[in-house]
Amino acid sequence: MYQMTHMAHDEHLLSIIETATDAIISIDSKGTVVIWNKAAAEMFGVTAKEMIGHPVTMIIPERFRGDHTKRINELSHGALPNLIGKTIEIAAIRSDAQEFPIELSLSMWKAKEEMFFTGIIRDITMRKHAEAHIREQELMLISMDRIAGINSLAAGIAHEINNPLSIISGTVGNINKLTARLIRAVSFWADKDISDDLKTEYDMLTAGLSLEQTINSLNLKFDTIKRAVSRITNIVNSMKYIANLNLSDVQYIDINKRIDDIINILNIEGVRHVEFERQYAELPTVECSVSDINQCLLQVITNAIDAVDQMGKVVVTTTFNKDDGYVWIDVRDYGKGMSDKVLQKVFHPFFTTKPVGSGTGIGLTITERIIKAHGGTIEICSEEGRGTTVRMRLPVRQSPHYCPIDS
Ligand SMILES: Nc1ncnc2c1ncn2[C@@H]1O[C@H](COP(=O)(O)OP(=O)(O)OP(=O)(O)O)[C@@H](O)[C@H]1O
Ligand SMILES: [Mg+2]
Repeated sequence: MYQMTHMAHDEHLLSIIETATDAIISIDSKGTVVIWNKAAAEMFGVTAKEMIGHPVTMIIPERFRGDHTKRINELSHGALPNLIGKTIEIAAIRSDAQEFPIELSLSMWKAKEEMFFTGIIRDITMRKHAEAHIREQELMLISMDRIAGINSLAAGIAHEINNPLSIISGTVGNINKLTARLIRAVSFWADKDISDDLKTEYDMLTAGLSLEQTINSLNLKFDTIKRAVSRITNIVNSMKYIANLNLSDVQYIDINKRIDDIINILNIEGVRHVEFERQYAELPTVECSVSDINQCLLQVITNAIDAVDQMGKVVVTTTFNKDDGYVWIDVRDYGKGMSDKVLQKVFHPFFTTKPVGSGTGIGLTITERIIKAHGGTIEICSEEGRGTTVRMRLPVRQSPHYCPIDS
């Protein structure tokens, strides 16, 4: 059997170390570098000449240096044997001070009564990026799954509530009509001359309540029920709307014209005296779902009208950015604005600061979902006491591989 001489053996080992693709570094018990191979020079950007004889702490991030010295000391005195032969993930720094993740396998050897430590090091930056990417994808899949779950739950609940709701609504309408007939009948007899006995009996039956008072009270109660039913109907419709966004009526539309229509609808009710300033750019037609975009404009402009307390100023600006092919719609109101706390929650479903009965807190949730489903963005800037700007950006054309949000 071929036996190497001592010198040939050393040469052989050195060549293995020098040509290894992993960085191989050895230090003595004081932490001074004694071996620094070519791969280490490439990985850390420092040559063997610059490192040998110098402390290894140069490649250790400052925050770990104290810990490193303590461990080397403990290892030299026989403690922490579990670290030897193990592979651990830690951080290191290059000569340009850039930190990166490494995988380190540590071994220990003794020569002439002195302890030495050898680390085989692999740069795992790429692996970490790949792992982070996979984690991100997994999280996205989980959240898409959750959204799909919430959507079908919302659609299911909306469907289930809708049936009893239409029964309540129809029945209340019928009771209203029947009561009107009863009132007419009772009113007919109330006007007639009746004997004193009957009059006393009548007063006892009606507990002294006048017919007029009873009719007024009944009408008020019917109004309350009708308002409550219409509020539930709105919520149910919003839930159905959110759950079933499917961009079925996609057309090429004139956004400026849509805004004009919405302003006209919202501002004609006589009670509103909002001054609308329109700064429209010449826009290309935008490929989008007409009903969805109407819904967004309606929600955002309604919020602006509410914010200026029905009588301030709102500026609507449209622009076309040729570079990225997006149309921008800015709705700026000079109303009450929002605190940072409110601003953080505006897109949360059912978040509202409006009095009970006037806000459901679903307007901006719907708007955000629609804009995102069209591949656009929505941003809101606001300052308390000074006003709010809502900026919606919509791509002029939908991407050919575009899928609605629910798929
Ligand atoms: N232009 C604005 N100025 C000030 N606050 C606003 C403005 N737009 C939205 N907000 C705040 O964000 C909250 C949520 O708005 P969102 O449109 O989602 O619901 P809402 O208007 O309260 O009710 P809904 O739109 O369902 O009738 C509002 O209650 C309000 O506090
Ligand atoms: Mg709203």
